[in-house]
Amino acid sequence: MAVSVLFVCLGNICRSPTAEGVFRRDVASAGLGDGVHIDSAGTGVWHVGEAPDARAQAAARARGVELSGLRARALQVEDFERFDYILAMDESNKSEMLARCPTKHHHKITLFLDHDESSAVREVPDPFYGEDSGFGLVLDLIEGASAALARSLKAPSASRDDAS
Ligand code: 4NP
Repeated sequence: MAVSVLFVCLGNICRSPTAEGVFRRDVASAGLGDGVHIDSAGTGVWHVGEAPDARAQAAARARGVELSGLRARALQVEDFERFDYILAMDESNKSEMLARCPTKHHHKITLFLDHDESSAVREVPDPFYGEDSGFGLVLDLIEGASAALARSLKAPSASRDDAS
């Protein structure tokens, strides 16, 4: 059965579409192919329908990831039912989601960077009002966590029931 992963930030034009694009690449190169359903969304509604921020697109393109086809959408309450992993970019995104999410699905909501044991950083900082260099840092953090998550989906721990 396919596993589903939703990346969530505030605007869905910088961090979460970057994570979606990078993770799509990493899932494909791990040979997981159609076994993983991937999407992203924002807790805010201001940028719905927009392509990713031009600075995010440029930073991703510099690492071989194309984001231009993505369009921002708002997080919906149905997402908490539909997705297995709901990955927040920062603590603010996480607490906003927990406030909206039915208790039975709270366990699905985690910080994306917590899936990267080697990362000392736990939040992907919001680059929107910062310097262009902030988008490079976003890519660095996301590429580490994306690779770690793709590895864990490829070689799930013995405690997880993947037989079904
Ligand atoms: P994101 O960045 O959450 O990584 O997409 C932001 C994009 C837009 C805004 C804030 C953060 N905004 O305030 O419009």
